[in-house]
Amino acid sequence: MEVKKRIAELIEALRKHNYLYYNEDAPTISDFEFDMLMKELQELEEKFPEFADENSPSKRVGGEITKKFETIEHKYPMLSLSNSYNRTELTEFDERVQKLLGKAVDYTCELKYDGVAIGISYKNGKIERALTRGDGSKGDDITTNVKTIRSIPLVLNGNYPDEFEIRGEIFYPLSVFKKLNEARLESGEAALANPRNAASGTLKMQDSAVVAERKLDCYLYYVLGENLPYKGHLENVQESLKWGFKAPTVQKNLIRKCKNIDQIFEFIDYWEVHRHELDFEIDGIVIKVNDYDAQEELGFTAKSPRWAIAYKYQTEQAETRLNEISYQVGRTGAITPVANLEPVLLAGTTVKRASLHNADQIEKLDIREGDLVQVEKGGEIIPKVVGVNLAERPADSTPTIYRTTCPECETELVRIEGEAQHYCPNVWACPPQIKARMAHFISRKAMDIDGLGEETIEQLFDAGLVKNVSDLYRLKKDELLLLDRMAEKSVTNLLEGLEKSKQVPFQRLLFGIGIRYVGETVAKKLAKHFKNIEAIMQATFEELIAVDEIGDKIAESIILFFEEERNLKLIEELKESGLKMEMEEMEDTSISNVLEGKTFVVSGVFTLFSRDELKKAIEDNGGKNVGSISSKTNYLIAGDKMGPAKKEKAEKLGVQIISEEEFIKMTKA
Ligand code: IVH
Repeated sequence: MEVKKRIAELIEALRKHNYLYYNEDAPTISDFEFDMLMKELQELEEKFPEFADENSPSKRVGGEITKKFETIEHKYPMLSLSNSYNRTELTEFDERVQKLLGKAVDYTCELKYDGVAIGISYKNGKIERALTRGDGSKGDDITTNVKTIRSIPLVLNGNYPDEFEIRGEIFYPLSVFKKLNEARLESGEAALANPRNAASGTLKMQDSAVVAERKLDCYLYYVLGENLPYKGHLENVQESLKWGFKAPTVQKNLIRKCKNIDQIFEFIDYWEVHRHELDFEIDGIVIKVNDYDAQEELGFTAKSPRWAIAYKYQTEQAETRLNEISYQVGRTGAITPVANLEPVLLAGTTVKRASLHNADQIEKLDIREGDLVQVEKGGEIIPKVVGVNLAERPADSTPTIYRTTCPECETELVRIEGEAQHYCPNVWACPPQIKARMAHFISRKAMDIDGLGEETIEQLFDAGLVKNVSDLYRLKKDELLLLDRMAEKSVTNLLEGLEKSKQVPFQRLLFGIGIRYVGETVAKKLAKHFKNIEAIMQATFEELIAVDEIGDKIAESIILFFEEERNLKLIEELKESGLKMEMEEMEDTSISNVLEGKTFVVSGVFTLFSRDELKKAIEDNGGKNVGSISSKTNYLIAGDKMGPAKKEKAEKLGVQIISEEEFIKMTKA
């Protein structure tokens, strides 16, 4: 009985803290304390499966695989909204509503979230099912994936109706989307075009454990049911906050009751300016008649309610001349077509270049040199060409013929079936590919070589001194001194930086050699699992995919990399130069007193250690673990996902922040 009670207590505490963290952005305990509660719960649930609960907070990590999402009928059809692009249309909407009802009514204004629509049903306070919009009458059952989103409650609080549905929009916060794309680019994958498509793709993933790591978020904006507490939209949405939902609040002006059209315009004006401060994308404002009886009286057209309308913000666009299409070659040989534009002012900056994505996009829009084109800045930082002004097309214009050869080395381009991008296959001799691989190798997250930047790489390559990264370690002082802008001091710095880089841990070297799809995290996982380069080189496909987070695509790419003679030679040369080809490990028996008198706080998620292993290693080497940071703390070992508050506190108190790799180094001192 005691166990059952403790499990219930833990579940309640974790739900509360989860809500405070994800929905209120106001945590009251540290990440560490949260993790400890979660760990206790997981252990108890494992030991006593009879008390396990399918909606326990421990289930947020996902794990269920869905091969095919079932299509299910919506209880209430999921309609769309009619759109308007100017204020006159809104005034007409207001007049229409007043005329049909014979009186003025209150409206609710709220944001139009640009994400993936979701309808989630709850029964007796528990999440039942989450459906996508689908065709509006039937949607896909993506419950397993939706349950991993931390801001969506699995179990409700307070005085909720027995049965109801709540609708909203799932999206990637812009900060998360940015990181996701950075990681993709680093591992040689193409960046995702926009947060909405990315969210939609993630929600359709088969493995919910992957979705769980992706940090999707959700705002819920519409409650439907037979027994709702209020007769008005805004009131029910505000009430749903008490049940545990992340809904727009009046306090933050995310939703507002408006008595007349002027107040509606005020709301629109406010968000026209402030929308850029939000960490998610909105594409407009939704205006709804607030009162349910009035809504019912107004009813629906075939596609949308007569009681609501969307006002769409114009995405900031500019029209300018496309002077020339050029082609860029990336580190992995991927070709990106780029529009070179007549400079134009867009959303506060001058735009000279814009992405054209790939051959399909050019063909679809029939983009030609000499055209007047529209450019737009979306959630992504790089502007893109979204349309062509056909009326202004020059008479002598000719259709764009996509390049068939590499712009840099003239090798015939290839296109892998199913992929949008063309590639230059001349991996070993195409200059921008070689240079970009070297730039990746020396970058901060890889070998982090002091005294060596992209410009120097360019210079070394052009002078014929380096053809691949292993040549860097054979550079001689005399030959370097002959180069432009290379004086005694910079040469010494460079050589010292290279020497120092020989101590860089194996996992960073593995990331640095630039195997396609092997990003920073994957490199760490591989290093931890296989321990050294030989084991990775010899691993079979099955052995590779058995590692956490390594899927078919990554495994194939690793095998392909080590099938190439020239890569084997490269590894051999790097090994001869003395670079680290195996993990520095904390052996179980590593016991010392090198950390004596030092106190540590451990925070975040680690790759090379579990949190317990890390704490044990601290103690085994004479150090002391403490729960929270104070001025007496010596080190904060920071993993991924460490809260910003912790970092701030450490910085304020002058506590040194170190990585797990740096920690390993300390124990070797
Ligand atoms: S209400 C019957 N409110 O926009 C009215 N929709 O174009 C149902 N959307 O399918 C929708 N923000 O996916 C509503 N605050 C908001 C919204 C919103 C975004 C999406 C939703 C809907 C589409 C309609």
